[in-house]
Amino acid sequence: MEYMLYSTSTFVSVIQQVAIFTLFTSYEERHSLREIYLEFAMPQSLDTNRRVVLAERPNGLPNENTLRVEEGDIPQPGPGELLLRTVYLSLDPYMRGRMDDAKSYAEPVKIGEVMTGQVVAEVVSSNLNAFEPGDYVLSGSGWQDYALSNGKEVMNLGKEPQNPSWSLGIMGMPGYTAYAGLLKIGEPQPGETVVVAAASGPVGATVGQIAKIKNCKVIGIAGGADKCAHVVNNLGFDACIDHKADDFAEQLKAACPDGIDVYFENVGGKVLYTILPLLNAFARVPVCGVVSWYNLTGLPEGSDFGPAIMGTILRMKVKVQGFIIFDSFPKSTYKEFVQDMTQWLAKGEVQYKEQVVEGLENAPAALNDLLVGKSFGKVVVKVG
Ligand SMILES: NC(=O)c1ccc[n+]([C@@H]2O[C@H](COP(=O)([O-])OP(=O)(O)OC[C@H]3O[C@@H](n4cnc5c(N)ncnc54)[C@H](OP(=O)(O)O)[C@@H]3O)[C@@H](O)[C@H]2O)c1
Repeated sequence: MEYMLYSTSTFVSVIQQVAIFTLFTSYEERHSLREIYLEFAMPQSLDTNRRVVLAERPNGLPNENTLRVEEGDIPQPGPGELLLRTVYLSLDPYMRGRMDDAKSYAEPVKIGEVMTGQVVAEVVSSNLNAFEPGDYVLSGSGWQDYALSNGKEVMNLGKEPQNPSWSLGIMGMPGYTAYAGLLKIGEPQPGETVVVAAASGPVGATVGQIAKIKNCKVIGIAGGADKCAHVVNNLGFDACIDHKADDFAEQLKAACPDGIDVYFENVGGKVLYTILPLLNAFARVPVCGVVSWYNLTGLPEGSDFGPAIMGTILRMKVKVQGFIIFDSFPKSTYKEFVQDMTQWLAKGEVQYKEQVVEGLENAPAALNDLLVGKSFGKVVVKVG
């Protein structure tokens, strides 16, 4: 299929492009670029497919050259294939890792390939018995309006599902990550102190609420007063500490007078180093992610914290276990998750906050927001 190539600045005039390349160099300025996108962006259409592809590998935070929008024909499904129209695209921190050509648990996105991502899509036409036009599905179609699928690893959500976007969040990968990581690795016991950072995000918010259901004392860590207020007032955590506060370490110590039994690791960096001296003997640390380091271009300057980290693990007999949600737990764990989470949501014991970004063209800027903490809640892109 022929795709017309659009740099991320093709939506603007030549004069504006020159302005962008000379002026839009910093992160803040790229937000102005997003406003220009909005003005010139085309919505999802019935005869064109927009695809966001990896144009070049970023060095640090992705910039305006990292992703490129291409336009082409909508593909036609062959025998045994489905045509899917993207409705919601999930934005997740792991997407930053897929932009690097580095060894990881998943293959990197190749240059020129559609950016990877889970979507909720509507079946437009189907040559497979298990799917009908109008069905909603969960699929790995990536950042594009339309995609073909052979139906493998596609979950049928039925027609008009309630809250379809929740399959990308609380009832999907992030919710399951929180559930399995906390309960199977963290093993929280009633009365213990559980600490989780990125506490207002989809994983952290769910970790803390499940820990409350398990009768733990739960301390969240989040960036800024608004997020902390949400974590305490709406999610029911016992306290939430702002990691940007000058006296963050003192506040965290005061909030954990009995030390920390479970630290659910989402962010790494300064937060991790502040947690280490507070870990109790036999603490458990599910190592889920280290988002504060995802845009590093080299090792951080300054002290080597390796000895402090390993020394703490040794002296305090801490159980540290990394996990990747796709292959670290048996299938039965997923069934338990769906059963429990469905009940908790129905009873109002778990609250869920979503941030819906309008339009595929706004996905690149929204991913950067997510990586640096400017998003609030689970981010999904309403594509069509
Ligand atoms: N292992 C797995 O299978 C698996 C599966 C899913 C997710 N994960 C990981 O789980 C973690 C949370 O994912 P999510 O989808 O729930 O993310 P998220 O909360 O939507 O977004 C990341 C959050 O991290 C925080 N953050 C960013 N830079 C930070 C820094 N320098 N210091 C402290 N906090 C910082 C920000 O929140 P604040 O503004 O509140 O600081 C930001 O909003 C990520 O590390 C992700 O990669 C792992």
